[in-house]
Amino acid sequence: MGKKHNVAVVGVGAVGIEMLRCLKQRNFPVGDLKVFARSAREIDVDGDKYSVEAISPEGFEGINIALFAGTEGEKGAAVTYAPEAIKRGVVVIDNGADFRLDPEVPLVVPEVNPEDVKQHNGLIANPNCATIQMVVALAPIHKKVGLKRVIVSSYQAASGAGRAAADELLSQSKDILEGREAHPKAMPKQIAFNVFPHIGGFGELGYTSEEWKTVRETHKILHDDTIKISATTVRVPVVTGHSESVYIRCKHKIKIDDIRKLLKESPGIKVIDDPSKGLYPTAIDGAGIDDVLVGRIRQDAFNDNALWLWIVSDNLRKGAALNAVQIAELL
Ligand SMILES: NC(=O)c1ccc[n+]([C@@H]2O[C@H](COP(=O)([O-])OP(=O)(O)OC[C@H]3O[C@@H](n4cnc5c(N)ncnc54)[C@H](OP(=O)(O)O)[C@@H]3O)[C@@H](O)[C@H]2O)c1
Repeated sequence: MGKKHNVAVVGVGAVGIEMLRCLKQRNFPVGDLKVFARSAREIDVDGDKYSVEAISPEGFEGINIALFAGTEGEKGAAVTYAPEAIKRGVVVIDNGADFRLDPEVPLVVPEVNPEDVKQHNGLIANPNCATIQMVVALAPIHKKVGLKRVIVSSYQAASGAGRAAADELLSQSKDILEGREAHPKAMPKQIAFNVFPHIGGFGELGYTSEEWKTVRETHKILHDDTIKISATTVRVPVVTGHSESVYIRCKHKIKIDDIRKLLKESPGIKVIDDPSKGLYPTAIDGAGIDDVLVGRIRQDAFNDNALWLWIVSDNLRKGAALNAVQIAELL
């Protein structure tokens, strides 16, 4: 039997719960498992009971790998607790945004840059959900024909903003259907029966922080900051499953059939692309599964080097929990 690892999961919100599922579904060799959140309690995930402990630095004694999915206001719980865990010999895999662009911290998508894991000094960052699904599809194309320009609009599910936001979509939908007014709390605007181009805070050049994450994290993962990337991030009334409309211009001429074949042969991707039969991925198709779904692959009618893709993935699984567990598997 292989070696077992003592694992800690930090946070039992939208991502933390999915981490517990992924560890079990993938038979990760877990020795002792500790689950931390702000307060102690018992939880049930698909019929399995877990004892949640209140997080403390001492709680990380004896742990080998910690998967962080805890929020602490605007920051991740890793800001306070990762240094404490690392001091105790733990390797931390963090879902928060705080360390992703730190040059000392590898930012890893196992299908794209697995070798970067080796550079870690106790901390490995998991990229943003919208970035992960995009780079899984773009990396093979970049390797083959070189990307020059990427223009992406992401249509992001409510659970991407955490459990409270997903709950708000459902309760607000009910309120509106029953004739009551919407009172946004977890989201900046009404999310039920609405769409708004605002994820994160507005900043540099009028782009949001989420839009800059897509740009900078893609550069770091692909080790190429010459790719010109522009993003628009939109919140849509979907519970789980981010969708992206991506325009890419390559350095060389492309043939759509070659791109389709390349993507079919690339890890972590399932191509669903037969519009004549009504076959293309939707957000619901991506929810609950591991693959990144790609469809609507089509040439730019005015540029031989350019094409469009529609990319769908489960933001809580490949976009967060599954990617983190795959990093743990690499370790
Ligand atoms: N949702 C996504 O699609 C997604 C994708 C990629 C990355 N992320 C990142 O993953 C992290 C978690 O997101 P989420 O969507 O799961 O959030 P969430 O649903 O709001 O859950 C947050 C969890 O963090 C726990 N927590 C808060 N402060 C903590 C602390 N100081 N120490 C330990 N645990 C603490 C909470 O504990 P209690 O239950 O006790 O309150 C709760 O269980 C965030 O950093 C987020 O940016 C999320």
